[in-house]
Amino acid sequence: MHFFSVPVILLISSLSLAVRAGKCPRLCSCDGTKLTVACIGKNLTEVPPTVDEISVKLDLRNNNLQELSRGAFMHTPYLTHLNLQRCNIIKVKEGAFRSLGRVVSLNLAYNKIDILYQESFDGLSSLKELYLDHNRVEELQPGAFTQLGFLNMLALTNNQLVYIPNMAFQGLNNIKWLRLSHNSLNNLAPEAFTGLFTLNRLSLDHNELQFFPTQTMNRLREVTRLDVSYNPMTYLGEEAVAMAKLTHLYLDHMSLQDLSDQALSHAPLLSHLDLSHNQLRYLEPLSGPKELGSLNLTGNPIYCNCFMRSLRKWAGAGGVKLLGACAGPPHLSDEPLQAVAPLDLRCRSRGETLKDEFEEDNESARSTPPTAKPKQTVKCPLNCDCDIEAQHATCEGRGHTKVPRGFTSKTQLLDLRSNHFHYLPANSFPGASQVVSLHLEFCKIHEIEGGAFRGMKNLFYLYLSDNDLTSLDPGVFSGAPELTYLHLEGNRLAQFPGSALALLPSLFVLHLERNAISKVEPTGLLSSVTPKLRELYLTNNTITSIAKGALDSAFLGTLHLDSNRLTEMPTHVLSQAPNLEELNLSQNSIRWVGPNAFQSISQSLKRLYMDQMGMEKMSREALKGLGSGLRALTLRGNQLEVLPDLSQLTGLEVVDLQDNPLLCDCSLLPLRRWMENVSLEVIATCGHPPELRGQKVRDIHVFKSCPESGSPPDEKVVVATRPPKVKKPKPSLSKALGVKARPAKPRAKLPKPTKNKPQRKPVAPKVTKNKKAL
Ligand SMILES: *[C@@H]1O[C@H](CO)[C@@H](O)[C@H](O)[C@H]1NC(C)=O
Ligand SMILES: *[C@@H]1O[C@H](CO)[C@@H](O)[C@H](O)[C@H]1NC(C)=O
Ligand SMILES: *[C@@H]1O[C@H](CO)[C@@H](O)[C@H](O)[C@H]1NC(C)=O
Ligand SMILES: *[C@@H]1O[C@H](CO)[C@@H](O)[C@H](O)[C@H]1NC(C)=O
Ligand SMILES: *[C@@H]1O[C@H](CO)[C@@H](O)[C@H](O)[C@H]1NC(C)=O
Ligand SMILES: *[C@@H]1O[C@H](CO)[C@@H](O)[C@H](O)[C@H]1NC(C)=O
Repeated sequence: MHFFSVPVILLISSLSLAVRAGKCPRLCSCDGTKLTVACIGKNLTEVPPTVDEISVKLDLRNNNLQELSRGAFMHTPYLTHLNLQRCNIIKVKEGAFRSLGRVVSLNLAYNKIDILYQESFDGLSSLKELYLDHNRVEELQPGAFTQLGFLNMLALTNNQLVYIPNMAFQGLNNIKWLRLSHNSLNNLAPEAFTGLFTLNRLSLDHNELQFFPTQTMNRLREVTRLDVSYNPMTYLGEEAVAMAKLTHLYLDHMSLQDLSDQALSHAPLLSHLDLSHNQLRYLEPLSGPKELGSLNLTGNPIYCNCFMRSLRKWAGAGGVKLLGACAGPPHLSDEPLQAVAPLDLRCRSRGETLKDEFEEDNESARSTPPTAKPKQTVKCPLNCDCDIEAQHATCEGRGHTKVPRGFTSKTQLLDLRSNHFHYLPANSFPGASQVVSLHLEFCKIHEIEGGAFRGMKNLFYLYLSDNDLTSLDPGVFSGAPELTYLHLEGNRLAQFPGSALALLPSLFVLHLERNAISKVEPTGLLSSVTPKLRELYLTNNTITSIAKGALDSAFLGTLHLDSNRLTEMPTHVLSQAPNLEELNLSQNSIRWVGPNAFQSISQSLKRLYMDQMGMEKMSREALKGLGSGLRALTLRGNQLEVLPDLSQLTGLEVVDLQDNPLLCDCSLLPLRRWMENVSLEVIATCGHPPELRGQKVRDIHVFKSCPESGSPPDEKVVVATRPPKVKKPKPSLSKALGVKARPAKPRAKLPKPTKNKPQRKPVAPKVTKNKKAL
């Protein structure tokens, strides 16, 4: 053995070199075992067309590509990592990455990209990290990132951004860290970060922000770390930071001269506050954060006199570590704040000192600030708060019975939720032409007169959720033509409000959950009424029927019909929805799914949810037409004993088959084989026969005794085109669905198929047409 090993290894390695050399493009180096290709610094002007199709990593750093054309990577569909750093790229054409559904990391840093088009990142449906730093991006167009639903980190640092528009990052449903440092940002639209429900870290340091963007930041409920250091802010006013989960806040290297003691009153969890290198001469105890552990005042001209005493005492009592030193008076100069005893913090004149000592325990006397805070007088109705800097006015929960008037004409966000308006007459919002977002949730509104929103020509978001509306006047939205996001959930609407929607040509998202809609009639025809509608939510109504064609729409991407009373698959309804990507039908009572149920939407459908429908049978052909495009399929909590063939669904990232009473005999062999193959942990449980009830399909041995076949003929096609095993991205959605994605690994092999005939064919449900209406 020992004698032979050296020549054998040599032989093998030279053989594989020879094989690989043929497939490796000129000027590149390739590793055939790791499936990597590197062509670094070769002044290439195009993506080498001969990169081996099975490659998973492609490194093209330091070349001269200039333009990425549509389909530039069509020949390498299995890439997971693509590095295009320093490639002199000026333009990324729409669809350049379209075939790269497996790429998790894309590096486009240090190029010359100035515009991100709406479809620049189309197709990168598994992407987790996107580096766009050190480019020349000046402008973000809403929609640029909508395809990147799995992205965790986006780096846009060192670009030339000045402004972030509303909804700029829409679609980043899994973003954790957004990096916008080193730009020239001086303005963030109020809804710039709306929809980023998973964001926990935001970097905005080294920009040109002069004010803390309170209103914009309010939207970031999950953010724990926020860095706004190196921005030219001079003052932080009351309640400037209202972020419920914030723990780390970096406000260092700015120009802060004053900071209200109430500035952080709505940041209850703050534990680290960095105020180093500002212009603060004193600071009052901060109300709000109960768990503050460290307060960094290094590099401020702190004057250690009696005005600092309350801070020093407060820090001592609360265990807050003070970092930094006194800048004066001379005898305390350079003394660490932490080391100065409160009683040594005195005011100069003897009278002042005595007075101060006399009133030592009197809170109100001690907190007189040495400088006056800038106070702004703002035009604002009684019982409302207006922040003119942030263009934000709120009268939430103040018992108003009429819509208050007299907001400044610059107001962009108007929050009137939780009042008692009952009825909104025409022209309820005069002078509100700049309002972008209007909140009217929980206002007990039961009627809205036509023209109520007239003049709101910039209205983009309207929240009418959780009111008592039973119907909508056809003219209700007249005069608000830009309305794009409409929330009507939690009302008592009995009909699909088709005619009212006809006035909203830009409507993009419509929420109608929790109403009393029982029928969607042909008048609801989406295509003619709201041609741009992309997401429609009808969850938790009482829908029993949908007229043919009522939901036809060339644009519709998301349709939620879950928790309704449908008894048949709405197949006929979906015949003209060629872009539908997500369909939720869970919690209806559809017992049977017939053949070709999704054929008409099979090219676009990515996510299909059919949980808890009491489904007893699925035709063997039920999923016919669906293929590698389907990413998520859930069938949890049904009554299925037999499942259709899933082997064509090679792109699944989420699959949930739990809580079905599967019949564990040889007919299940194809499913078991499929489970062995996919890189997902599929949980499926036997319900029959009785001796196997409750056991996991993966664990049972019954298949060993099956005649050695059972794979239907079409499976071979899949096998032949199967790529090398690639670690699939683990979407976080899978966690929510109770399925753990994991890399494929070899498991105990099942008996190989032979030419014998299967003893028993998979059972197709024998159900008559009449029975499905049960
Ligand atoms: C790179 O290629 C361009 C055009 O193909 C050529 O003009 C340039 O001289 C090349 N640079 C180097 C360093 O080879
Ligand atoms: C406090 O600020 C200084 C100056 O910015 C910095 O060097 C130091 O690391 C900070 N200390 C802590 C504990 O954050
Ligand atoms: C605290 O000071 C205020 C005003 O200086 C005075 O009205 C109040 O009586 C004092 N309270 C106590 C407890 O000394
Ligand atoms: C439907 O809405 C009702 C009333 O709002 C609520 O009580 C119920 O839990 C909802 N059902 C589902 C399945 O969401
Ligand atoms: C689909 O509908 C069910 C039932 O209403 C709900 O529990 C589930 O969260 C929905 N899934 C998605 C992804 O919307
Ligand atoms: C699983 O994949 C292997 C090769 O990757 C193939 O030989 C086998 O037939 C596949 N089985 C099924 C059931 O897809």
